[in-house]
Amino acid sequence: MNRRTEQQEAIRVDIIQKAEPYVQQQLEHDHSGHDWWHIDRVRKLSIEIAAKEGADPFVCELAALLHDVADEKLNDSKQAGLDKVEQWLHLHVNDPDVITHVMTIIATMSYNGGQNPPMETLEGQVVQDADRLDALGAIGIARTFMYAGSKGSIMHEPGQDYSQYEYRAAGKSAIYHFYEKLLKLKDLMNTTYARELAEVRHQWMEMYLEQFYKEWNVNDIQQNRGG
Ligand code: ADP
Ligand code: NI
Repeated sequence: MNRRTEQQEAIRVDIIQKAEPYVQQQLEHDHSGHDWWHIDRVRKLSIEIAAKEGADPFVCELAALLHDVADEKLNDSKQAGLDKVEQWLHLHVNDPDVITHVMTIIATMSYNGGQNPPMETLEGQVVQDADRLDALGAIGIARTFMYAGSKGSIMHEPGQDYSQYEYRAAGKSAIYHFYEKLLKLKDLMNTTYARELAEVRHQWMEMYLEQFYKEWNVNDIQQNRGG
């Protein structure tokens, strides 16, 4: 490494080290699946996918660390959340291209009922994939029930018809969330490596649902017998 890249690397490490406690403090009261450990998993997955796909690991890690600080569920509005992150970036990052890139990723990466435009840059695609992967598999299942619990939603409602509800509407069951979002995600992965990981996590969710319905239906029969 020459002196210039060494210096640049030291600056990058410093920014990441400053972002960590900021994000921890911003998300410390969250119980809806956006806690620090979600951020940490998404950051690690982003670095792993970035390495496989040849994306800039710094932009990926920084965007992953900051991605939920701006979440509209945790702020007065989406714009207020984005302004907050932008202010932080201006205080700590002096490369305007990095600031613009990270802000663009954060502003458009959420699932939003599948309504957001496709991610334009490879780094954006990587971080979006990492965030979506954390909604899948064993951890995704756990987060879904935590989210539902935090909103007072029920676990499952047989014969439900939520077709008229908006994507974010309250009152839908946790199991319904698998169909409105989670089971669709594997086909929406941007990168090849994330698609491979998503495939495995998808299979776990399918197996989980199969077992869930088996147990649910056995209980039905037992209840009927017992009167
Ligand atoms: P993102 O940060 O990608 O936009 P969300 O904020 O939509 O993700 O979701 C955070 C976590 O909560 C995810 O694991 C997601 O699947 C889960 N979740 C979101 N909406 C619901 C819901 N209506 N019921 C159950 N879980 C949900
Ligand atoms: Ni997230």
